[in-house]
Amino acid sequence: MKFVVAITGASGSVYAQRLIDCLAESGHVADVVLSNHAHEVIAEEIGELRVPAHFPRHRDRSMQVPFASGSALYDAMVVIPCSMGTLARIAYGYSDSVITRAADVFLKERRKLVLVPRETPWNLVHARNVVALIESGATMIPAMPSFYGRPQTVGQLVDTVVARVLDHIGVGHDLVQRWKS
Ligand SMILES: Cc1cc2nc3c(=O)[nH]c(=O)nc-3n(C[C@H](O)[C@H](O)[C@H](O)COP(=O)(O)O)c2cc1C
Repeated sequence: MKFVVAITGASGSVYAQRLIDCLAESGHVADVVLSNHAHEVIAEEIGELRVPAHFPRHRDRSMQVPFASGSALYDAMVVIPCSMGTLARIAYGYSDSVITRAADVFLKERRKLVLVPRETPWNLVHARNVVALIESGATMIPAMPSFYGRPQTVGQLVDTVVARVLDHIGVGHDLVQRWKS
């Protein structure tokens, strides 16, 4: 399967790192694109992002990437973490960067687009933009860890979010114990 992993300047770079690691471990490939602000937050939170050498990396400003066109066949795109700024630009079809253009393409082609927003509290603008995206076909998986599996480490908390992303893009995993199974 082919994926796009987009990373923006919201807190939660560790979610992106874990997703990339899981995709690589399960034999999948993802094109990786970072917004300008993502670099800043990654430096603050995890130092640097580890991306496998065979994962193509792209700049957010050039449209010379295959997934900026609907003709390229990809299975899913994940924006993780997704800032409320990028979320708003996607909701309104701005398409002014690789990330927002690619998200627009995935929506128009009816391909899986998963957004992992991280912000709290929400204002009404955030809430309305989320509604617009759900109405347009995006899947919202807010970066909200769960606790019923009794996570003992930050990594296990992170996995409760990444597991839901993997479920929604069709990648098998055993990151978490499923409820009552
Ligand atoms: C350390 C740090 C943490 C941030 N955390 C968030 C956040 O959790 N959610 C959010 O929407 N924006 C957050 N921001 C602000 C975004 O980086 C900012 O709105 C930026 O314009 C987003 O641009 P982008 O969507 O192109 O990455 C954070 C910024 C910094 C420097």
